[in-house]
Amino acid sequence: MKKRLGIAIVGVGGIAVSHMAALRVSERAELVCVQDMDYERAKQVAAEQGCRVAETLEQVLQRIDVQAVIVCTPNLTHAEIGARVLNAGRHLLMEKPLAMTVDDAEALAALAADRGLVLAVGHSHRFSAQSLAVQRLVAEGAVGEPTFVRVVMNGGWIWPGWQSWVLNPVVSGGHSLHNGVHLTDLASWWMGEKPDTVFAAGQRVTSGALDIADYLVIQLGFPGGAAAICEVSRAERPRRANYLELTVIGTEGVLTRAWDAEGIRAWLEEGLAMWSPDGAAGDVFVREIDSFAGAVRGEHVVEPPVHDAIDAVRVAAAAERSLATAQLVSLEGER
Ligand SMILES: NC(=O)c1ccc[n+]([C@@H]2O[C@H](COP(=O)([O-])OP(=O)(O)OC[C@H]3O[C@@H](n4cnc5c(N)ncnc54)[C@H](O)[C@@H]3O)[C@@H](O)[C@H]2O)c1
Repeated sequence: MKKRLGIAIVGVGGIAVSHMAALRVSERAELVCVQDMDYERAKQVAAEQGCRVAETLEQVLQRIDVQAVIVCTPNLTHAEIGARVLNAGRHLLMEKPLAMTVDDAEALAALAADRGLVLAVGHSHRFSAQSLAVQRLVAEGAVGEPTFVRVVMNGGWIWPGWQSWVLNPVVSGGHSLHNGVHLTDLASWWMGEKPDTVFAAGQRVTSGALDIADYLVIQLGFPGGAAAICEVSRAERPRRANYLELTVIGTEGVLTRAWDAEGIRAWLEEGLAMWSPDGAAGDVFVREIDSFAGAVRGEHVVEPPVHDAIDAVRVAAAAERSLATAQLVSLEGER
């Protein structure tokens, strides 16, 4: 068996827990070190995970057993930490979004390409069983040419409190960049195209004092005339509400994943077909890390391709502009 890829995690807050759980079961990668600006927390996590702890990023990047770094720090820090990791010759799995601006995202992509390093971005929803099933069915032509996609990910308030960095648009980039990227990325992936228009509408449901829209709809227009609606909310009641709806309408049929269903239905000329991929959330991060490790070994291309991750930032920035101006934003000439 090949040696497992040695991984360090920088930023051991909320989402790092999912990466650490995945690393405990992955046969392709292992956690060797953690680091966090909160050193006490990093020490505690290292003790729990049975790995090393580093006090600074420099110390992480000096370790010869660290071949790759997963960055799980707030969005505003991604450009700087990502550049330091790549400049130190380490492969990088950056949590989404790749960066706060298209320029910064492109700079990270260029740096990784120059250095011959793998740069993956944690668009984790690409690795859920249902997302993979939809992609496979669309690619097989099960519904013909996709013409309309609807992605709904609505849930209750999950952010830790009013001081959470996520609620500060200067640090998170706003809800489009923070959560919207998951949905717009899925829509573009299934559509097989990048959108050329973006329109967003949002509400501050939980409180008018919020600086971000906790309920958000992003409408995408595609060059071939297709459209997508991406609806994301963290303002549902009851607070533990958490539901997902997926629809892909094509020229030959329809795929649906209803909010209370486990699997996907395909409405085709031949009749109704059903897929019941298991939606176990744990598997998502195992698939993501194994895919990253496979790309580092040169077994396959990185998923998602970095130009898709850059585009997710472009679309999110356009959505935030649309929210601010209540205008449709054209991306023509921006790529
Ligand atoms: N893929 C997903 O589904 C998903 C879900 C949630 C969050 N995320 C992304 O993961 C990242 C982290 O989000 P989170 O919810 O875990 O945040 P969090 O606030 O729970 O954790 C962030 C951690 O980073 C540490 N930190 C902050 N700045 C640092 C620095 N400069 N150096 C080292 N450590 C630093 C903090 O002390 C904290 O422990 C964000 O980019 C977010 O967008 C992705």
